[in-house]
Amino acid sequence: MIITIDGPASSGKGTLAKNLAKHYNLYHLDSGSIFRWMAKHIIDNPGQPTNSETFATQLRSAIATADLNDPAIRSESIAQKASEISQIETIRSLFQTLCLDKVNQGIPSYDGAVIDGRDAGTVLFPNANVKLYLIVDSEERARRRYLETQTTDPSITYEDIYKSIVVRDQRDISRQNSPLKPASDAYILDLTSETPEEVLSMAIALIKAKNI
Ligand code: DC
Repeated sequence: MIITIDGPASSGKGTLAKNLAKHYNLYHLDSGSIFRWMAKHIIDNPGQPTNSETFATQLRSAIATADLNDPAIRSESIAQKASEISQIETIRSLFQTLCLDKVNQGIPSYDGAVIDGRDAGTVLFPNANVKLYLIVDSEERARRRYLETQTTDPSITYEDIYKSIVVRDQRDISRQNSPLKPASDAYILDLTSETPEEVLSMAIALIKAKNI
């Protein structure tokens, strides 16, 4: 079973993906963590021509041993850089290869995979069994993200986060290559007022109804 979850920044994709992975014994790929890791690598190694094949090859060998769970990649500034570099053609093409490789390698130990991102249902896994597209008001997403960041970065304000989310969404929606948009066969779920438990129940009900 392949499930894709797409949607804008901080819409709860990761939480739903983790919960579905646990419920159905699925391999979970948080595809945004790949761009985040690349963004941090680019910031830490400045002065490189990021839009070349040579750089993509270097990036590929560097990411082979990367820790995609590194808490340092979760900041707002890394998220912005991740969104910026995700528009570069050579980097996006490397990202697609890495996502497919990771899922192919991960799947044998599980009963399938759940992939969250921006183009998981449209580009990465167009034949997924179930595609979900999450919508949550930008004010509510900023509120949730603000509460989360209070423990790690108390200097960041709600307004900073709101602006960052809006800028990132706009860039992710309007880029030419693999923009954020629902697949034509995706279930579009407006989850502004739902708790993570309610979101999980809704997703399980939709998956059940598909009789996979
Ligand atoms: O899901 P996230 O917030 O960690 O993603 C960070 C950025 O990476 C996001 O703003 C755009 C980019 N991204 C993408 O272009 N395509 C994906 N499938 C996942 C993330």
